[in-house]
Amino acid sequence: MKFFIDTANLDQIREANDLGVLDGVTTNPSLMAKEGIRGQNNILKHYVDICNIVEGDVSAEVIAVDFEGMIREGELLAELHPQIVVKIPMIKDGIKAIKYFSNKGIKTNCTLVFSPGQALLAAKAGATYVSPFLGRLDDVSTDGIALIEQIVFIYNNYEFETQVLAASIRGPLHIIKCAEVGADVATCPLQSILDLLKHPLTDSGLAKFLSDAAKV
Ligand code: E4P
Repeated sequence: MKFFIDTANLDQIREANDLGVLDGVTTNPSLMAKEGIRGQNNILKHYVDICNIVEGDVSAEVIAVDFEGMIREGELLAELHPQIVVKIPMIKDGIKAIKYFSNKGIKTNCTLVFSPGQALLAAKAGATYVSPFLGRLDDVSTDGIALIEQIVFIYNNYEFETQVLAASIRGPLHIIKCAEVGADVATCPLQSILDLLKHPLTDSGLAKFLSDAAKV
């Protein structure tokens, strides 16, 4: 299972990368705005800065919602750095754009996926990744993990190569549940990754070992 970090914050990306368990990064327009990154040149430079920190795939989202606009933006993004994955929304022109990029060998991440039918279309179009938003489903009393499981099941039936990238993760239990149902990737806030470290028996066990070692 790959771990991506879901942020545009360079310090958090560095911290996760320093742990040695980071396989990539996802961003979205809201995460970029949160870091105060505005204006095309600054946005493009920021993506390159991220690529220079990590070794894996870095998703950069298009803002256009029409086919020509998505192609124009996506080609610009893909030329920035070989690690860039063009992130495209699950809409009709988005599916056409994914097919276009897939034919050109450019990696894509189909975002804002909330149903198995949408995930099937993304795979048929040749998306590299599909991003079901499990936290946002949980927020509206719908089982997000069940959707991840359904998509994994469908993709396995037909040996689709599209990787299931569980997005909108809210905590460590989401990561564990995604691992149980076979998500290829989980994109997580830094804190959710760090929360995987925690167990009170580890803390008390270590404290005892250290106090015993001090007695010797
Ligand atoms: C990542 O690809 C998604 O854009 C992100 O996980 C969405 O997370 P949110 O639902 O916490 O905004």
